[in-house]
Amino acid sequence: MSDLGYKDMDYKAKVQKQSAMLRVYWITITAVCVGLAGVSGDKIIDGTEAKAHSRPYMAYLRIRNCKNMFSCDGFLIHPNFILTAAHCQGERITAFLGAHNLSNNERSQQVIPVEKIIPHECYNEITLVDDIMLLMLKHRARITCEVNTISIPNRNEPFNFHKCSVAGWGLTKTNGTGSSVLREVNINVNFTSQSEIFGRGSGKKGTCYGDSGGPLVCSGTSNMPKAVGIVSYGSKRCEDPGNEVYTKVSAYWDWIRKKIIASSSA
Ligand SMILES: *[C@@H]1O[C@H](CO)[C@@H](O)[C@H](O)[C@H]1NC(C)=O
Ligand SMILES: *[C@@H]1O[C@H](CO)[C@@H](O)[C@H](O)[C@H]1NC(C)=O
Ligand SMILES: *[C@@H]1O[C@H](CO)[C@@H](O)[C@H](O)[C@H]1NC(C)=O
Repeated sequence: MSDLGYKDMDYKAKVQKQSAMLRVYWITITAVCVGLAGVSGDKIIDGTEAKAHSRPYMAYLRIRNCKNMFSCDGFLIHPNFILTAAHCQGERITAFLGAHNLSNNERSQQVIPVEKIIPHECYNEITLVDDIMLLMLKHRARITCEVNTISIPNRNEPFNFHKCSVAGWGLTKTNGTGSSVLREVNINVNFTSQSEIFGRGSGKKGTCYGDSGGPLVCSGTSNMPKAVGIVSYGSKRCEDPGNEVYTKVSAYWDWIRKKIIASSSA
């Protein structure tokens, strides 16, 4: 993994050309509803069901945009703030914390409307640069066994790229159905650029529509899990080989900090 951190411009250009036929990873709620009715019980793509509430930072996001409803994922980094992808922006967003099986009315769930939607100012929906967004909740999340924050790495913090995974409620195959339960898969990080992380699971393992905005979690120093990336995009067919792209959270440490301070004091 000594090549981590080098900037492979050719490869990036290629990925970005592929992304002309973008797979941004949100899905419409209608697809989710179909999914909830007929979940076959497999995969994120080739993943496994997460142990219930083992990732208490996970947020399921329901997004309203004009007349459409979409879903994405996000993660709690502060009792008042969720981090997600900028391509998940909409007019109104509701966050579901403490969820595992979305078809169940779980007592652990905290459903909190988003008060302030803060996409990165330079987010570009063609190139998908700066695909990061902060959500300020209408009120603080109550920290419980099922709802808790995850820390993010600061700009210079080293982390172990060998133990990484991603979780989500997204589709279990291209044109398939959403998962009612949280699913997870291990990811190998191949390399990083200044603001993005490129990686993929073995075989077909990886993310799909509806996993957008969820965290790429790797172990940091002393094995503490850290949210190092944000699910951004990949090839149009989720099963196709090739890297998927994650926004590199550490590159936005200053931006996140600035926005949290500004919003908290407003
Ligand atoms: C999720 O909950 C629904 C409704 O209770 C249930 O039918 C379904 O089997 C559950 N899914 C899993 C994978 O446990
Ligand atoms: C998904 O559906 C689209 C449109 O119906 C189709 O063109 C495409 O081939 C399908 N992809 C897969 C992997 O089934
Ligand atoms: C990324 O890593 C995976 C697993 O090690 C490997 O199968 C894949 O070929 C790599 N992809 C690229 C583009 O380097």
